[in-house]
Amino acid sequence: MTLKVGIFGYPISHSISPPMHQAAFDHAGIAAVYEAWETAPEALDAAVAALRADDTLGANVTVPHKQAVMASLDEVDDLARRIGAVNTIVHDSGRLRGTNTDARGFIDSLREYGGIEPSGADAVLVGAGGAARAAAHALAESGVGSLAIGNRTLERAEALAADISTLDVGARAVSLTDASFADACGAADLIVNSTSVGMLHGPAEGASPVPDGAIRADCVVYDMVYNPPDTALLRAAADAGAVAVGGLPMLVYQGAAAWEMWTVRDAPVDVMMAAARKALGLDSEGAS
Ligand code: ATR
Repeated sequence: MTLKVGIFGYPISHSISPPMHQAAFDHAGIAAVYEAWETAPEALDAAVAALRADDTLGANVTVPHKQAVMASLDEVDDLARRIGAVNTIVHDSGRLRGTNTDARGFIDSLREYGGIEPSGADAVLVGAGGAARAAAHALAESGVGSLAIGNRTLERAEALAADISTLDVGARAVSLTDASFADACGAADLIVNSTSVGMLHGPAEGASPVPDGAIRADCVVYDMVYNPPDTALLRAAADAGAVAVGGLPMLVYQGAAAWEMWTVRDAPVDVMMAAARKALGLDSEGAS
């Protein structure tokens, strides 16, 4: 029996999850196909219900379904509930459990590629959407010293800061246009961009969400944007002598964490990284 797994999104044609996961299944010798399931919002509930078939391992979930999908599941774990988003569904004997591997993908890749231990660090998080919520929870759980959340819409940053403060972290919200945002960036050990600013074909292609000159040499700058691999933020970080980490490692690590839940095996992370880089048309060296 060939097993089935896939990703729900709308649109989904540009996702690199299918080649990345397929490479891992093929490498491990598991007879499974990973498909892109383009699913309109009104079709989501029925599409999710079909995951209860015997031959189905589960699914990934992406924009715009990460919140709405919760209503179609039998169970949502604590982490996904706190983050407010499900990106992975695990099928187990007819029951569907939702979880979130973005937080683990973020923190594992930050440690591995950024070489920083977030415990005690002064961190700035730019953004307050779903990706930011996963990063904020991961940083809070790893004992970050302070967290300034900068967002274009201040109210969203305030809501996230209030959520995080229940985890005993000194989190504060700041508007991107406020001078104290640049000050926080200048004092930070870690700056994380979780917005779409800088993204290819995004709302602010080519722009950086961090003010010019605000990055210190001993800062780690982590940009969740993975396409292009050299965003304006990462170039500014490199120019400042800081450590610069792009978004591809997070994409790979969140995928690896999902793959391990479906297969109960260790994921071939290097194989997944190589496949993801190939799908993006990048060379096989120097993951950024
Ligand atoms: P995701 O789930 O990927 O995090 P999202 O929930 O839509 O997506 O969040 C997108 C984030 O990018 C938000 O923080 C958004 O800011 P607002 O809350 O003010 O909307 C941010 N963002 C998107 N476009 C932006 C822009 N041009 N300038 C600044 N921030 C932007």
